[in-house]
Amino acid sequence: MAGKKVIITGVPGVGKTSVINETIEKLANENILYLNISFGSFMFDVAKASNLVQNRDEMRSLSKDQQKALQREASQQIAKIEGNVIIDTHASVKTPAGFLPGLPEWVLRDLMPDIVVLVEADDDQILRRRFSDESRLRDIEGARSIRDHQQFNRAVAASYAMLTGCTVLYVENADFLLTHSVEALAAVLR
Ligand code: AP5
Repeated sequence: MAGKKVIITGVPGVGKTSVINETIEKLANENILYLNISFGSFMFDVAKASNLVQNRDEMRSLSKDQQKALQREASQQIAKIEGNVIIDTHASVKTPAGFLPGLPEWVLRDLMPDIVVLVEADDDQILRRRFSDESRLRDIEGARSIRDHQQFNRAVAASYAMLTGCTVLYVENADFLLTHSVEALAAVLR
């Protein structure tokens, strides 16, 4: 039987990696196995090998065409992976030239997800998480700009549903309520 393909998105700092990791662990304890695939890591491996960037946060500043070529490379590789997969990626990426769709039509055609999940949180909570995460080169932006980005992600996720027939689920990852987010996500992955 074909596995489930779940795309999980969220603006940087919303905590999607934390939600994904805990959900995978919870489901593994119930013998439900998901492979966790980072779309950004596939892009980064190609970008680094081509000497385009030194760290993953620099990819957002590459030209639109370079980012699109990296997306294509990543989606073609990921499409070959079978079984239950979670693809950790972005509904849209904030670039100097504006919002770049994370899942343009040719990427969706490769991936054909069953569900697209948007992990969301209040703008001020995301801002605080970005400031306290010293391991990354997070974009400096205000709460309003984060709100605009989350709104754009809802709009673009609707178009992904129209193109593929997938469902769209919002998962709230509020401060100190990670277990609630994990339960909400696990419920649709079982
Ligand atoms: P990616 O690797 O996805 O990086 P990211 O967006 O920065 O996301 P993270 O994986 O770091 O997760 P996160 O910040 O949401 O959450 P975390 O769990 O760390 O992408 C890298 C790059 O690849 C992108 O910038 C882009 O250039 C490129 N890319 C990827 N996909 C692409 C695509 N489709 N098209 C084009 N480019 C693409 O949490 C953050 C912090 O919050 C942590 O400190 C955590 O402890 C804390 N936290 C989490 N949850 C809670 C909670 N409930 N309460 C309190 N604190 C919390």
